[in-house]
Amino acid sequence: MNTEPPFTPHPVLKPHYSDLQEKQPFLRKVFDDSAEHYERIATWGFFGTGNWYRRGALRRAGLTPGMQVVDIAAGTGITARAAADITGTAAAVTCVEPSAGMLRESARRLPAARHIQGMADGIPLSDGEFDFMSMGFALRHVEDLETAFREFLRVLKPGGRLLILDITKPEGDFANWLTRLYFRDLMPGLTRLMTGSREAQYLMEYYWETLNLMVEPERVLEALAAAGFQQASREVQAGIFSEYTARKP
Ligand SMILES: C[S@@+](CC[C@H](N)C(=O)[O-])C[C@H]1O[C@@H](n2cnc3c(N)ncnc32)[C@H](O)[C@@H]1O
Repeated sequence: MNTEPPFTPHPVLKPHYSDLQEKQPFLRKVFDDSAEHYERIATWGFFGTGNWYRRGALRRAGLTPGMQVVDIAAGTGITARAAADITGTAAAVTCVEPSAGMLRESARRLPAARHIQGMADGIPLSDGEFDFMSMGFALRHVEDLETAFREFLRVLKPGGRLLILDITKPEGDFANWLTRLYFRDLMPGLTRLMTGSREAQYLMEYYWETLNLMVEPERVLEALAAAGFQQASREVQAGIFSEYTARKP
């Protein structure tokens, strides 16, 4: 019997964890184990796109000074720091992140922001607190897209804006071949070389598998609409950087 939820971001990845109940504990360990290396991977490994790409995407999605922002799956806080650059104050930014190791790194780098341990699928915040929500490169890690999006809707104020950043497979055979070459064949080994960490290498091996098996972007847009978001749309930068945006009615 298929027990996977209707909007699962990718199938259960048996070599890594055997069923959906194990997914979150598995992820918690993988990110705890590689937390100290994540910033380095995110800056050189993703073509140096770190802070400036995230800042541009946040601006394109309508983030402006004065807004209260929540960054879900904050990791070491790269997206949250970009948001703080725009709002002008880290005190306007709340970071939500399940991995204690990642959260520690984020709190060290952006101490004036609020840091809360929690997951997208059950956000430990009250209703209608935020003008803007971001989630950077973590969509694949939730259990069910619609469940997470209902939570997103709940913590946003009416009219609040959502931005989800993700890497998606490009159009065309050649671009797909290049993506496979980079993310599957080169990046895990380069990560090991750069960090000396087997755990960081494993994170990137796992990353490729999720990228390869991730649901089609149309499914993400359907899940946003099913959860109650309006104006759900997707813009793609450089063929692989997807920016999903939506508004709470
Ligand atoms: C690739 S990192 C992205 C970090 C950061 N958002 C960025 O832009 O660089 C993915 C993060 O998602 C977190 N994560 C995993 N499962 C999650 C869940 N169910 N809800 C929220 N965050 C989750 C991980 O702990 C990790 O810190």
